[in-house]
Amino acid sequence: MSIDRDALKREAALAAVAMVEDGMVVGLGTGSTAAFAIEGLIARVRDGLKIVGIPTSERSAKQAREGGIALTDFGQHDRVDLTIDGADEIARDSLDLIKGLGGALLREKIVAAASGRLVIVADEPKLVPGLGGTVPLPVEVVPFGWQTTLNRIAALGAKAVLRAGADGEPFRSDGGNLILDCHFGLMADPAGLEEEISNTIGVVETGLFIGMATTVLVATATGIIRLDR
Ligand code: A5P
Repeated sequence: MSIDRDALKREAALAAVAMVEDGMVVGLGTGSTAAFAIEGLIARVRDGLKIVGIPTSERSAKQAREGGIALTDFGQHDRVDLTIDGADEIARDSLDLIKGLGGALLREKIVAAASGRLVIVADEPKLVPGLGGTVPLPVEVVPFGWQTTLNRIAALGAKAVLRAGADGEPFRSDGGNLILDCHFGLMADPAGLEEEISNTIGVVETGLFIGMATTVLVATATGIIRLDR
């Protein structure tokens, strides 16, 4: 029997939406799972929930705005109460994450860092024993000199590839930067790697979210697994 991944993503997303309370500043994640959460928040706002949202991408902003969620920014609120976001891999024991296959990792990390609680929602295949085994690590870099930045990251042990968009042109993030998808394989020391890549000239941000997730909700065929830090 094939698994309906979208049904699982929606189930995890709605479990996180149930954690949102009146008066909260809510971080709105990016990606297909986060979109289910925004959909759930829109439904609750229509039923009277009072929140303001800080989106992590232009596409999440559009979905929220069109659905009637009031948006705000860090000029108005410097803290986010709770953020709901997806992830590409979640390390089962540490709750460290790889994020950014959707290209929004920089804004996602800024919002995550400002959040009292970061609730990650996912379907089961993303829960893994160690990071890097199933997806590349997205790294956002400035366009100038990206080839030399790529070479520096490759020297850390990755096969790094410039991400292309659907049109075949280099993918641009909402900030106008480029993304390198870096295949490291299973990482022995994600925190150390995060530090090394972050110290590389030309790097804006990495998709490694170390020590940031406070709760992970993973939907499985037999129910939701909740993991807390
Ligand atoms: C967006 O940049 C990403 O960090 C997403 O949160 C991540 O890629 C998960 O996306 P899906 O929910 O679409 O798998």
